[in-house]
Amino acid sequence: MPLDIVIGTQWGDEGKGRIVDLLAAQADLVARYNGGDNAGHTVNVGGHTFRLHLIPSGIIHPHTIGILGNGMVINPATLVQEIENLKAAGVSITPERLRISFAAHLITPAHRALDQAQEQARGSGQIGTTGRGIGPAYTDKAARHGLRMEDLLDLDTFREKLEHHVATINTWLMRIYEADPLDVQAVVREYTHYATQLQPYIADVGMELHQALRLGKQVLAEGAQGTLLDLDLGTYPYVTSSTPTAAGALLGLGLGIVPVRAVIGVTKAFQTRVGAGPFPTEVFGKTAERLRGTGKNPWDEFGTTTGRPRRVGWLDGVLLRYAVRVNGVTELMITKMDILSGLPTLRLCIAYRYNGHTLQDLPLGPAHLEPFEPVYEELPGWMEDVTTVRRWDDLPAAARAYVRRIEELCGVPVRRVSVGPERSQVVEVTP
Ligand code: IMP
Repeated sequence: MPLDIVIGTQWGDEGKGRIVDLLAAQADLVARYNGGDNAGHTVNVGGHTFRLHLIPSGIIHPHTIGILGNGMVINPATLVQEIENLKAAGVSITPERLRISFAAHLITPAHRALDQAQEQARGSGQIGTTGRGIGPAYTDKAARHGLRMEDLLDLDTFREKLEHHVATINTWLMRIYEADPLDVQAVVREYTHYATQLQPYIADVGMELHQALRLGKQVLAEGAQGTLLDLDLGTYPYVTSSTPTAAGALLGLGLGIVPVRAVIGVTKAFQTRVGAGPFPTEVFGKTAERLRGTGKNPWDEFGTTTGRPRRVGWLDGVLLRYAVRVNGVTELMITKMDILSGLPTLRLCIAYRYNGHTLQDLPLGPAHLEPFEPVYEELPGWMEDVTTVRRWDDLPAAARAYVRRIEELCGVPVRRVSVGPERSQVVEVTP
């Protein structure tokens, strides 16, 4: 009963959607377990680009069932829109193919307004949230007065809860943040409409996953964001409010640990980050422009959800090793190797320096990165375009050496590298 978990080892945007799409070809169920529409997965198939924020990207394979787990916070407006967009693109979305946990929490316009007001109030200490209401929705969950998908099943009670919820946040918006209140009845009308559309999809997905695993079906759990944005294990407080790490898959889907077969860590060949927070290997100027791209291509380093340019830098091997450890990563995939083509020299952070000492690991975890200076190892780059390469042996020797060095640093095998955005542009690594 195999459960494979795909997680990001960095600050999100590692290209997890790509590998999920690839592995979903063999999976029976694909499941998202954390976060909400702060995530953005881009999948390119046959020239068509799918941008998904909530529905697991594996659903593009016609044989799979897509699951939204209890660990998620779901904005029904985004979900309904996404269902429509997928249907319009010819993807079949039915209550048989898309299952939403009754215990997933709802995001409302009040959460979004509060997220934005709180972020503004942080002034120079802004986290750089996506403004999608993620933090306030998880805050309500922890405070035990959140709205859950199951509330949509009883409209009378739901309307009452929703009115109370919006009215309460309106008070905060006006009294604390001097922001405009929301129209309570307009939100209630809008959400009543979503309720009727989403009711058929609501299910006990934990039970369904358990039964599927017992029957020997393959489940692929798809993490959103990345390890360094994990509420507990990331660069706190510059994190999201959920658990993108592997343990979050179990909690966020309602499963025990026994079925886990593999934890697949996805890392970009370099480092990126959206929003504020420490970033020891960040680069600026020409190298940054080179790594980021201009924004013309869908794969350039601009946020899928917010369009913000991403901060970019050299691959941080210390943080990667940390991510491998806290997730129990069993294998890695390195994405975007093609972007490094043409750089004469690559830098790889292998340790940190602090007060004249060289440290191989983080003494107090990733929340305390500021004082550290990266120790770089320089490796030769490669000039060749690798986008058409499909066999490991056909990659330039310098590209293979870069991959081997990452394996050595992290102690886990790199199983695949991607050399372009298309489904076919993946190279299996020979051990
Ligand atoms: P929030 O999740 O909107 O609260 O944002 C918290 C932090 O996580 C911010 O720095 C965001 O830029 C970052 N973040 C949230 N979702 C993603 C994602 O899918 N990719 C990359 N960064 C993200």
